[in-house]
Amino acid sequence: MNRKQFLLDLRKYWLENTVPNITDVNAKFLVDLINISKTKNMLEIGTANWFSGINFAIELEKNDWHLTTIDFSPKSHNEALENFKIAKVDNLITAILWNALDEIPKLQDDFFDFIFIDWMKKRSWEFLELCLPKAKSWAIIIIDDVLKFKDKMSTLRTYLEKNQVQYNILPIDPDDGILMIIKK
Ligand SMILES: C[S@@+](CC[C@H](N)C(=O)[O-])C[C@H]1O[C@@H](n2cnc3c(N)ncnc32)[C@H](O)[C@@H]1O
Repeated sequence: MNRKQFLLDLRKYWLENTVPNITDVNAKFLVDLINISKTKNMLEIGTANWFSGINFAIELEKNDWHLTTIDFSPKSHNEALENFKIAKVDNLITAILWNALDEIPKLQDDFFDFIFIDWMKKRSWEFLELCLPKAKSWAIIIIDDVLKFKDKMSTLRTYLEKNQVQYNILPIDPDDGILMIIKK
């Protein structure tokens, strides 16, 4: 199986079926960050059918590192499991099928080097609040789609300012951007 071709085929399928996967530019940027930060343990919130996860896992595989990913949709979860097997990265992944609001608190504290939050935009601040204790010091935390869904994310900005969390917004796509926090 040629993984590059598999990812291209998946991208085509998702475009035809409007699955809300991260863009190619975003995937490339996040993969670079994984490599620069030498990420060992990554957490993804919002798996969908795992376009993002497969891109991440291919990098993590080089060093036998690990990805934990959570999605509450059985359809997405099952599609993702199948795609992981085809891409032969299933041994690197713990896929959790449940509501992340319930599952994040059960994860180990001070453990993840990289957390990618890509789900219910309106409640981003709640997910961030749950994720912060799970991140190691100097971990990278990314929240996706902060420009496209700016209006839905005003509570996130309020949370960041109230708690004096330092962040940067990077407009990496023509119409969208990500929010990056380095946990101190
Ligand atoms: C934008 S998609 C993720 C796309 C994926 N990261 C990619 O780029 O391939 C968001 C996903 O979050 C999931 N989701 C939304 N709210 C959730 C929650 N409370 N707990 C778990 N999963 C949730 C949805 O089922 C959906 O599949």
